[in-house]
Amino acid sequence: MRTYSIAAIPADGIGPEVISAGIEVLRALERQNSGLKFAVETFDWGSDYYKQHGVMMPEQGLQTLKKFDAIYFGAVGAPDVPDHITLWGLRLPICQGFDQYANVRPTKILPGITPPLRHCGPGDLDWVIVRENSEGEYSGNGGRTHKGLPEEVGTEVAIFTRVGVTRIMRYAFKLAQSRPRKLLTVVTKSNAQRHGMVMWDEIAAEVALEFPDVKWDKMLVDAMTHRMTLHPQSLDTIVATNLHADILSDLAGALAGSLGVAPTANIDPERRFPSMFEPIHGSAFDITGKGVANPVASFWTAVQMLQHLGEHDAAALVMEAIENVCAKGILTPDVGGTAKTADVTRAVVAFIESKV
Ligand code: NAI
Ligand code: MG
Repeated sequence: MRTYSIAAIPADGIGPEVISAGIEVLRALERQNSGLKFAVETFDWGSDYYKQHGVMMPEQGLQTLKKFDAIYFGAVGAPDVPDHITLWGLRLPICQGFDQYANVRPTKILPGITPPLRHCGPGDLDWVIVRENSEGEYSGNGGRTHKGLPEEVGTEVAIFTRVGVTRIMRYAFKLAQSRPRKLLTVVTKSNAQRHGMVMWDEIAAEVALEFPDVKWDKMLVDAMTHRMTLHPQSLDTIVATNLHADILSDLAGALAGSLGVAPTANIDPERRFPSMFEPIHGSAFDITGKGVANPVASFWTAVQMLQHLGEHDAAALVMEAIENVCAKGILTPDVGGTAKTADVTRAVVAFIESKV
């Protein structure tokens, strides 16, 4: 019996709706394969916890999470709590505290989903975006002085370190090398940002020498939006800074049909700490409680979690189930269907169970 301990943090908005759907899928896997077990412990951290306790998670939160094999995360964000408090109170401390420096975001057009781009069907868009997840523009470095006075100053300092850039480039080149096209695009903005971004480019070129079989090119981030939209077939693996990849991956999700299908993995490649798996989307208060949240992103992120745990058969089975259910047209409204979260979940569970 292989047992994995999973810390579930559903948190806010539609987070609990899509994470409970994901746990149903893990339970289906247990029924399908009697050698597999997921010991899931659910934590009630998030904005409601904040309203009661004044913090998004207990002080010992990271200590508690450390012993788990993986973290399965929903989303944070509430209409009545400032976003920088919710994000910096829960998700970012986990990413930074556990040095999950590689944020991996696969995107492809699933069968049955009509993407917004004409002439772009399944197979034409198959990307993995690697987002630097520990420093850059979201390092948290900066401050405010003279608050409220006319001379008030706010700084938000982007930090790029040689160690940080080298390790994310190495991760991205290695990932590109493992994919059939062996193609990497390094996103930059070294025309306008002449310090950290120039170093970023130089380190990319240095690391490239270690991977002579990977074909790579460099794109300015603004031009990248153009290329993603007009020439999606020309891209495969993409590496970008924390901010750039944050923005580009929402675009990628939209080009694949919806943010509701876009998954992400926050990985500590050295496996010193648990890695964290979450949908890209936020808490989506506009649809919370309506039962229509698309659970596909949370299922796909479970696929990433299973891959990270080394359960490749189970991962492939969940991916096959997602593709099968989408192809049948069992889709939530964000991707043009009329199904509820529960309908999609039931269909994915039934597919997995049919493979016993
Ligand atoms: P959002 O991702 O929550 O929603 C953007 C749009 O996509 C909305 O129209 C929403 O209905 C739709 N959408 C998102 N996920 C969906 C799903 N699974 N199924 C169907 N439709 C879906 O982004 P927004 O509105 O900018 O942020 C809402 C809150 O979430 C904010 O408080 C923000 O700070 C937080 N947030 C948290 C993230 C996280 O926890 N990782 C990431 C992004 C935003
Ligand atoms: Mg984002």
